[in-house]
Amino acid sequence: MKKSILVSICALLALSANAQKNASIKVDLEGNQIIPKEIYGQFAEHLGTCIYGGLWVGENSAIPNQNGYRSDVLNALKDLKIPVLRWPGGCFADEYHWMDGIGPRENRPKMVNNNWGGTIEDNSFGTHEFLNLCEILECEPYISGNVGSGTVEELAKWVEYMTSDGDSPMARLRRQNGRDKAWNVKYLGVGNESWGCGGSMRPEYYADLYRRYATYCRNYDGNHLYKIASGASDYDYNWTEVLMDRARNHMQGLSLHYYTVKGWSGSKGAATIFDKDDYYWTLGKCREVEDVLKKHIAIMDKYDPKKRVNLLLDEWGTWWDEEPGTIGGHLYQQNTLRDAFVASLSFDIFHKYTERLTMANIAQIVNVLQSMILTNDKGMVLTPTYHVFKMYAVHQDATHLPLDIKCEEMPVRDNRTLPLISATASKGKDGIVHISLSNVDADNAQNITIDLSGLKAKTVTGEILTSKNLTDYNTFENPNVVNVKEFKGAKLNKGTLEVKLPAKSIVTIAIK
Ligand code: AHR
Repeated sequence: MKKSILVSICALLALSANAQKNASIKVDLEGNQIIPKEIYGQFAEHLGTCIYGGLWVGENSAIPNQNGYRSDVLNALKDLKIPVLRWPGGCFADEYHWMDGIGPRENRPKMVNNNWGGTIEDNSFGTHEFLNLCEILECEPYISGNVGSGTVEELAKWVEYMTSDGDSPMARLRRQNGRDKAWNVKYLGVGNESWGCGGSMRPEYYADLYRRYATYCRNYDGNHLYKIASGASDYDYNWTEVLMDRARNHMQGLSLHYYTVKGWSGSKGAATIFDKDDYYWTLGKCREVEDVLKKHIAIMDKYDPKKRVNLLLDEWGTWWDEEPGTIGGHLYQQNTLRDAFVASLSFDIFHKYTERLTMANIAQIVNVLQSMILTNDKGMVLTPTYHVFKMYAVHQDATHLPLDIKCEEMPVRDNRTLPLISATASKGKDGIVHISLSNVDADNAQNITIDLSGLKAKTVTGEILTSKNLTDYNTFENPNVVNVKEFKGAKLNKGTLEVKLPAKSIVTIAIK
């Protein structure tokens, strides 16, 4: 019998054995690792309608806006408490020349966005527009600098333009363009995917180039740069090895990209049309990020046992086929309950590795890949992924509480195993314990017994995200198909929390 058929039969048996399943979780209330809020970072690239139409419509647009930024999108994003926003790419960053995006907009030159559909980029959203957006969202900017087609001088001057407060040439230019005070810019990426769209470099060559660029990106007037070297793609452990060996003393962070994607050639599958086998495969592939993180971390531990250099997963998320009828190269995809699980399962994993993993940026914030929001000329739609980010925002900067989870597991395609329950917990500064639980089982509810002994708590409240079908998604016509509701399935009884978790659901419970 073919292996794939066997896996499917095992999966069927596992799922049909009984309709009511049991799991148990022991919460270690003595956690001491803070979940950095930057794990909830975002990424905005000049790609498709992420910037133009998604975040920015310009002051003269008929779409309600605040100084050119879409009001509906701004308001929705504020609720996510975004800690950090990466910009302007992605692949775009290594063809971006920042001086094209400053000064009067009517004088800014146009360019071809070669990476993303050959769309004409008019540079009307540039450095000022981005950094002002970060101020409005109260988040840290993460600038991704051009190494692939730029120069050391160009990147050094960009840093000076943004952060110098003195009487320096670039600070004077900034003032001429209407901004007196320097911005605070902490995160500086020195190139993106330098092994691919960022210059097709070998790690040995990039390591030296990185050191050269990093040397001239200076700290001006109290601004302290946190320099990030362009890191590996998922399973490329040699890249991490070479970068750590040759350049670790020149960086604060090393990046990594991991997408939940079927492969880079051929169809990636439709975002909204899939069966249970595809669904479970997706979650298996998503969970594989844990193994990938562990392996990159082990290499970093070898060169940097004191954990001075952080690992930043600055691109992650699902990557499906573009929606039919949309512009090629714009990576516009819908977002179902399946994507919501990719978000919740990813966070459950990320929280466990924050001794080394200190930032993660989902790709991308609006209208591109696994986005928070989809927009058109009339309005916007919050995706199921948006709802997970909002439900999980309580874990930002809270103390991680390790969990011991006992639950059924099922085999899935590509020799992976999928536990049917995924979870994470944290304790906030206010003493409130939050537990997020995902029941990935498409058909069966789970009774979960959570041992919280030692916690003096009286009340339990909760929120749940689920829908009738795994393939459900929100549209401009029906924006609330997949939405958050009050959860009443948790009861606290003498240090034990009994939770009845419906099939295919994600909950966050607050215990006070
Ligand atoms: O997020 C889309 C693209 O994926 C980014 O531009 C690039 O860095 C990655 O390959």
